[in-house]
Amino acid sequence: MIYLDSAATSLLKPAAVPYAMARAVRTMASPGRGAYDSAMAAADTLLDCRLALADLFCVRDPARVVLTSSATHGLNIAIRSLVGPGDRVVISGYEHNAVWRPLHAVGARIDVAASSLFRPEEAVRAFRERLDGAKAAVCTQVSNVFGYILPVERIAALCRDAGVPLIVDASQGAGCLGLDFDGMGCAFAAMPGHKGLLGPQGTGVLLCSDASAEPLLAGGTGSLSAEADMPAFLPDRLEAGTHNVPGAAGLLEGVRWLARRTLPAVLAHERELLAAFSRRLERYPGVRQYLARDSVCQTGVLSVSYDGVDCETAAARLAERGVAVRAGLHCAPLAHRTAGTLDTGTVRFSFSPFNTLAEALAAADIAGEVSIH
Ligand code: ALA
Repeated sequence: MIYLDSAATSLLKPAAVPYAMARAVRTMASPGRGAYDSAMAAADTLLDCRLALADLFCVRDPARVVLTSSATHGLNIAIRSLVGPGDRVVISGYEHNAVWRPLHAVGARIDVAASSLFRPEEAVRAFRERLDGAKAAVCTQVSNVFGYILPVERIAALCRDAGVPLIVDASQGAGCLGLDFDGMGCAFAAMPGHKGLLGPQGTGVLLCSDASAEPLLAGGTGSLSAEADMPAFLPDRLEAGTHNVPGAAGLLEGVRWLARRTLPAVLAHERELLAAFSRRLERYPGVRQYLARDSVCQTGVLSVSYDGVDCETAAARLAERGVAVRAGLHCAPLAHRTAGTLDTGTVRFSFSPFNTLAEALAAADIAGEVSIH
């Protein structure tokens, strides 16, 4: 199989990831619940994981790196901490349902700063026009559908000037793009562990600017156990219940691998594969590629649509021929509406640091032939 669905989950992982997870299952108990070796080993693993993530995302205090079960979990904490019923929240036109649905659920007034695909100047303008008086803003770093890199640093600067707290959804940027969390002055940034960070499913990260967030879950933390209220300090405030220690052990190895390889090298590799795939696919008629004219606006994710073949059929044909992709709306109807692909959806090809040039070229030929029969 040629796996080109890393934007959903990075199935291809460094070997150290499953190894560390198996070791954690065998040797680690509950962190913060004892002074014996296996409890201390678990606590050390969590701390190492926070430290590695703090380094990667420029967070001075590792206590502000909260371990969650997913990006969705972190985004729900962030949104429920900042937004109440009737509050106006400005979001980009490329947000995932992990942003749109929680905002809808709290009864926010959602103000979409819509802008054309691969047009960062338009995105900046759309946010600038709407921020005055907004309760919060949310912007994805990269569209999960199109690989479009939004200008989050510039949007963060606008939010700082307007005094509007910003939540960054770093789900698709984490692992290939840097994020200077403290430098940007964001309120929160959320991401999963199982995509670009190369960790397992069931892991996620929420970077917090301070400890004012509202917990989604209340429960045991191993700290201040006589108190009815959740601790006021991080990370305990947002980490009720026993931690996913094997998950954190795997995530730590994913992040260590990225730190060694470096994010620019990962991004350059994924872009090189995307460019080779795209050039080869151009040989085939009837395929529309959503490709940025300026490659600095796009990661290693490419959506395409076919003349006369719906996207689900195309993805099924690709699967039959051994190419794994995701088709449809990718849990991001807003992004499809903004880009004009809501009625058809797209077929998404997403590259990882472990894909090869030979795989990209072979997949392009298979993808091209999908339109022929
Ligand atoms: N949000 C994930 C995707 O884009 C699952 O496929």
